[in-house]
Amino acid sequence: MKAKSAVQDNQYTRVADYYAGKSVFITGATGFLGKLFIERLLYNCKDIETIYILIRSKKGEGVEKRLQNIFDVPIFEKLKEVRPNDLKKVIAVEGDVTSPGLGIKDKDEQKLIDQVSVVFHSAATVRFADPFKTVMTVNFEGTRKVMDLAKNMKKLDTFAYISTAFSNAPRVAIDEKIYPPIKNLDEVSHFIQKYGTDEEKIGEFIGDHSNTYALSKVLSEHLVNEYRGKMPSIIIRPSVVGPILHEPLKGWTDNWVASTATFSNVARGLISMQYGSRDTVCDIIPVDYVTNFAIVAAARGKIVCRTDDVLVYNICTSSQNPITWRRASDLFLEESRKHGFCKRKAHNISFSMSPVTIEIVTLFRNTIPCLVADVGLIARGKKPWNTKEHLRAIWLRNLLIPFSVASWYIKCNKALSVISSLDDYDKKTFPCDPNSIKWREYLPIYCRGVKEYLLKDKCK
Ligand SMILES: NC(=O)c1ccc[n+]([C@@H]2O[C@H](COP(=O)([O-])OP(=O)(O)OC[C@H]3O[C@@H](n4cnc5c(N)ncnc54)[C@H](OP(=O)(O)O)[C@@H]3O)[C@@H](O)[C@H]2O)c1
Repeated sequence: MKAKSAVQDNQYTRVADYYAGKSVFITGATGFLGKLFIERLLYNCKDIETIYILIRSKKGEGVEKRLQNIFDVPIFEKLKEVRPNDLKKVIAVEGDVTSPGLGIKDKDEQKLIDQVSVVFHSAATVRFADPFKTVMTVNFEGTRKVMDLAKNMKKLDTFAYISTAFSNAPRVAIDEKIYPPIKNLDEVSHFIQKYGTDEEKIGEFIGDHSNTYALSKVLSEHLVNEYRGKMPSIIIRPSVVGPILHEPLKGWTDNWVASTATFSNVARGLISMQYGSRDTVCDIIPVDYVTNFAIVAAARGKIVCRTDDVLVYNICTSSQNPITWRRASDLFLEESRKHGFCKRKAHNISFSMSPVTIEIVTLFRNTIPCLVADVGLIARGKKPWNTKEHLRAIWLRNLLIPFSVASWYIKCNKALSVISSLDDYDKKTFPCDPNSIKWREYLPIYCRGVKEYLLKDKCK
């Protein structure tokens, strides 16, 4: 086991003090969670030494340009006002989790090995429709490569793997533990190579898992567990991650996660019925709660729960402060009506398990009105868009069926005990208690954030 300075600390160490003088390494830093990890660490842990971030070149943009793009996101405005020079603490490391050795240059690798105390491994493909081989290569094999680097880090206190609360979705009640392995991990790698594009074999391989993504995440958890003893690790399992609730910018999001797409499609009159029942719980957690919690857990998790085993923390709402899809969608819709999301009538969401009922209701409430709206646009010489977006909303609704028809009871007692171990200052600086979310306050913020940062001029 590597250095464990945090574990030996018996006195209360503030979270920012823990990070003072330390360097962290973040994968997935250009993503939704990743950007907020950078911002929250810089803003709240002002003496942090360096934040190394893994970035690949993409769509003709090199890593330095992509690094600058991160800072152009409005969540960094507050930091730029108070300590603009702190952005220089962020160092881009060129690499790709699918390349051998992460594709990192030797001199960069040595810096990471010598300096990094905490790794937040957040890189993943979260697109449910991506091919099996892509998902497994990025999410599963990529995790192995990041751990192979992390296990050599001389100062490593914590390797934090960002998983998902739905990694064990075949179970209805999900505890904060690693469940027994479902596959031999060496055979998984072999399967990806040999049958990665064989649809029939892939179907059998996925079995009763919700989709390839969820399977890739649970297998990665087992991989993290397999490395226990080689490095101190924690697993953070967020549920469906929504826009920022508090800081640094209420409502900010750049991610079309399941609930965001569903609520906005309802508010835009593109769908109005979903598979499931009116009582199905939608486990949403604001993105600032997830990043705050991960930052806190990496600093304090091993202090609160002294064990060499991998610690698992679920950061979610269903067991503590649940809300149903129906109520959340209604609160979002109520707010959207004040902001002109849609000229057509947008109906409150309803539920059924009958495909025939869903198709008939959708035809009259959404398909025909969308077609009529498009005819009107064409008649006025404008480009039609309603039917196209309506069909996309239906495609997405169907893709999300495994998550809309079932309720999960996802326990988070261990996460709560880490949160309750914080002093008042840290509780205020890193809000992350799921019990503190007031849905009537959050859903309107959610709605305004989606309009401002995602839909922009698409509300018509
Ligand atoms: N969003 C949610 O609701 C949610 C819920 C539960 C768990 N999670 C987990 O949280 C983590 C972050 O999710 P997110 O919502 O932030 O996703 P995201 O916005 O799609 O970001 C994904 C990140 O992974 C990076 N990435 C993908 N492939 C890569 C590769 N081959 N090499 C290097 N980096 C690569 C992306 O980089 P590029 O910009 O270069 O593509 C991006 O930075 C994931 O592990 C996800 O499973 C998310």
